[in-house]
Amino acid sequence: MQSLLRALATGRDVAEMGSAFGETAAVMRETARSVVTVELDPDRAATARERLRDLPNVETLEGDVYEVLRGRGPFGLVFADGGLRPVTEEKWEAILALVEPGGIIVKDDMTPGRAVEGDEVREFLLRDPRLAAAEILARPEMAVIVAVRLPD
Ligand SMILES: C[S@@+](CC[C@H](N)C(=O)[O-])C[C@H]1O[C@@H](n2cnc3c(N)ncnc32)[C@H](O)[C@@H]1O
Repeated sequence: MQSLLRALATGRDVAEMGSAFGETAAVMRETARSVVTVELDPDRAATARERLRDLPNVETLEGDVYEVLRGRGPFGLVFADGGLRPVTEEKWEAILALVEPGGIIVKDDMTPGRAVEGDEVREFLLRDPRLAAAEILARPEMAVIVAVRLPD
C-alpha cells in the first residue's frame, strides 16, 4: 500500500484522512508536492507531529478531518483512511469537494470479494458517476479502491 501511495502521490498535493502515527504520510511526502495529514486522536496526532516535524512539505493537523479540511484543497490525492464510518452522503460530498478534477481518492482495507450492493463505501466509490474507479486486490486478504475524479 505504501508503495502504491508513494507512486500515486508523485507531484501532487495530498490530503490524508487519519494520520495515525504518521507512517504513510512520511512515505507519501517523499514524492508529493505537499501532504496535509489530519488525526482525531490527540495521542496519535502528537506522535505523528513528532515523526513528521521538520519535513518542509508536510502539515500535521489535529481534529476531525471534515472540520479541519473544510474549504481546503483541492487536492490531487486524498487517502481516505479514517473517519469514513458511519458513512453519510454529507461525508462523501465533503470528500469529493476535496478532490480536483483528475485527482484520486484511495481507500484501502477493503475485504475482497464483497458485493457492491449494500456496501456503502463500494457503492459510492465504484458507482458515483463523477468518479472512474477500480477495485484492486492488493494482498490476498485486502483490496484497495482507486477512484479518479472525472472532469466537471
Ligand atoms: C487506519 S488509521 C490511519 C493509518 C495511517 N493513514 C497510515 O497509513 O499510517 C485510521 C486513523 O483515522 C483516525 N480517525 C478516525 N476518524 C477520524 C476523523 N474524523 N478525523 C481524523 N482522523 C480520524 C483514527 O484515530 C485512526 O488513527
